[in-house]
Amino acid sequence: MKVLLLGAPGAGKGTQAQFITAAFGIPQISTGDMLRAAVKAGTPLGVEAKQIMDAGGLVRDDIIIGLVKERIAQPDCAQGFLFDGFPRTLAQAEAMVAAGVDLDAVVEIDVPDAAIIERMSGRRVHLASGRTYHIAHNPPKVDGKDDVTGEDLVQRDDDKEETVKKRLEVYHEQTEVLVGFYRNLTGAAAPQYIKIDGTQAVEQVKADVLAALGK
Ligand code: AP5
Ligand code: ZN
Repeated sequence: MKVLLLGAPGAGKGTQAQFITAAFGIPQISTGDMLRAAVKAGTPLGVEAKQIMDAGGLVRDDIIIGLVKERIAQPDCAQGFLFDGFPRTLAQAEAMVAAGVDLDAVVEIDVPDAAIIERMSGRRVHLASGRTYHIAHNPPKVDGKDDVTGEDLVQRDDDKEETVKKRLEVYHEQTEVLVGFYRNLTGAAAPQYIKIDGTQAVEQVKADVLAALGK
């Protein structure tokens, strides 16, 4: 099962990713998490990516495509995977089609821009795992601590209001075009296209996503 989660920054991709990966037993491939790991490790990629991410821009297509191709060649991806935050440009999507990566389903989580800023300001993350919470809508069991490890939760550097606005702009300019791209694919490359109302509560979004995917 190869699934893509598509949606604006803060639409709830990471939140729903954990439910889909658990339901299908497939790994999550989040290019955002991979880049944040590189930033934390201080690798040359991380140093370059941090500036771009903090400004709300996109890391170069060739770098991202290389990272993902390497990742999907790993044995744990043989039965499928969940893309979260990738592809997010036409070039990235076309590179996957050219590489013969046919997606079974594209799940678009739809949330209007107005709701996004509030979500981002309340977001807290466990950096090592990518697990995501919201202080009001999806709080951890213990304030400020990850449910699984008990380690500290942090705010992401790119969740400042100006950066979120820039990320939304970039989404509309460069990523939204993928809706038409995947809806218009034909033949073996054509995925099932599913659009979900992401303004509902986390549990309802989860129920809708899993039902649409046949679980
Ligand atoms: P990335 O990490 O992919 O960020 P993003 O796409 O901007 O999305 P987010 O992770 O911010 O949001 P999300 O949809 O996962 O929402 P979440 O579940 O956390 O990318 C970061 C940066 O890396 C990019 O800006 C770019 O620079 C670079 N990058 C990454 N991939 C790249 C690529 N392919 N090419 C080039 N550059 C790339 O939820 C958000 C909040 O809302 C949380 O607090 C959550 O608890 C809450 N919430 C979730 N669902 C609900 C709900 N139903 N109701 C209420 N609150 C909810
Ligand atoms: Zn995310």
